[in-house]
Amino acid sequence: MESLNILNKKCPIRDFSAVSAGKQVFLPKLRNMSGATERGVISIAHLEKFKEIVGAQFVLADEENLQHYGHDETEHLQYYPEVVLKPGDTQEISAIMQYCNTHCIPVTPRGAGTGLSGGALPTQGGVLLSTERLNKIIEIDERNLQVTTEPGVITEVLQNAVKEKGLFYPPDPSSKGSCFIGGNIAENSGGPKAVKYGVVKDYVLNLELVLPSGEVIWTGANVLKNSTGYNLTQLLVGSEGTLGIVTKIVLRLIPHPKYDLLMLVPFASLENASAAVSAIFRAGFVPSALELVEIDALKIVSAMVDSTAVPVNDSIEAHLIIEVDGNNMDVLMGEMEAIAELLTQFEAGEVFFADDAQQKAELWKLRRRAAEAVKASGYTIEEDTVVPRAELPALIRGVKQLGKQYGFKAVCYGHAGDGNLHIRINHPTIKNSYGNPEMTEALKALFKLVHSLGGTISGEHGIGLIQKPYMQTMFGEAAIELMRNIKRAFDPNNILNPGKIFDLKN
Ligand code: LAC
Ligand code: ZN
Repeated sequence: MESLNILNKKCPIRDFSAVSAGKQVFLPKLRNMSGATERGVISIAHLEKFKEIVGAQFVLADEENLQHYGHDETEHLQYYPEVVLKPGDTQEISAIMQYCNTHCIPVTPRGAGTGLSGGALPTQGGVLLSTERLNKIIEIDERNLQVTTEPGVITEVLQNAVKEKGLFYPPDPSSKGSCFIGGNIAENSGGPKAVKYGVVKDYVLNLELVLPSGEVIWTGANVLKNSTGYNLTQLLVGSEGTLGIVTKIVLRLIPHPKYDLLMLVPFASLENASAAVSAIFRAGFVPSALELVEIDALKIVSAMVDSTAVPVNDSIEAHLIIEVDGNNMDVLMGEMEAIAELLTQFEAGEVFFADDAQQKAELWKLRRRAAEAVKASGYTIEEDTVVPRAELPALIRGVKQLGKQYGFKAVCYGHAGDGNLHIRINHPTIKNSYGNPEMTEALKALFKLVHSLGGTISGEHGIGLIQKPYMQTMFGEAAIELMRNIKRAFDPNNILNPGKIFDLKN
């Protein structure tokens, strides 16, 4: 393919975030006589061009679609794109990017819209590019234990397809039944299995990428070792759709373990539950999941899904959900017993073993739907803090203390084995914390604590839009400027998912 001309002119930055941040909505009004949307950039001529590229039925500009594609799972935020495009293949995406780059049209890529940091919100209007039609699993290579897939495949669909061949793709975000593998790459997602098997980045071998200029590249090779030049593949993983649009993904797979066992362990003290986590690893165990759920979260989710699977009483503050997996049932049974024995040192209560697939599914449902339930009950944004796992008790103590100081209630749950704790905040009066000075201050205090414990502010949800104000708690100006320069190298006109992770200064 002939190299496309990368323009070196700067496109103007339009930022509607002040208008839209949880208060008002940016809705492009009807197109005016010259065809441009009020305050927007897309003209009738642009729409015609898009129809030529992707076909008229895949160019959507009606209010219902603009509304739908203008939000994700991040609370309170709604930003209307000016048009939604649903391309069907790499060539169409390349043509869209080439055109938008030439015409300074912002493009926000979107997977399934399950993100929790606002990464897919079209904050500057322009094009919302949905990858939902790129939904084919291209090849499962059983000889080499690899799969090549398009980005719009639902993660669980991919997992089930490879499982039929006895293979395993472990990363399993809570939204695995609806999120896309492409979005998982963009955010470097994790999930409960990460504690044993690692996160998305540990499985990505190679990516086909459409650059903002429209050029198409492969970032690596379909091999297990690669020291050939800069590691563009890993740079792309977790880059939140700001550097290029991933159109094909090559993942490594592993053999699927034959068995797993699951148990739920109650603790009278949240602090003891969190202290037990690092003790499990120090004793030499490697669980395939080690999740913590504070009692308030469990009560809320049990009520929402109408489950009595886990008895809750006032003497319990938190539970650990512990899974082990492998190919030898006797070994697994022995491990579970030994872990349960170890936990008595932390005043664990009576252990509940999930006996069959149904009980396991019930427990996992309670854990996986915790975020949704707690959100519905009035707790705002899900924080995604990570600390070295031995620091979990200190983090939890600090969270509760900050709650007292700033007048909020916090509920914690998450991937304790990774030190990755989700914290949800319920303030009696401040329901929308975006731009709220008091909550911003409280979150800064939380993130300073996380930093002082050697941790970081996002383990699996990304920075996107809502964590952007807190990047400085983790990085100095030199590091952020280096990231800006990487963005400039990929996207000199700042048209691809502009305004995410950090602001690009002109
Ligand atoms: C969870 C997701 C939402 O762990 O990160 O529930
Ligand atoms: Zn999580």
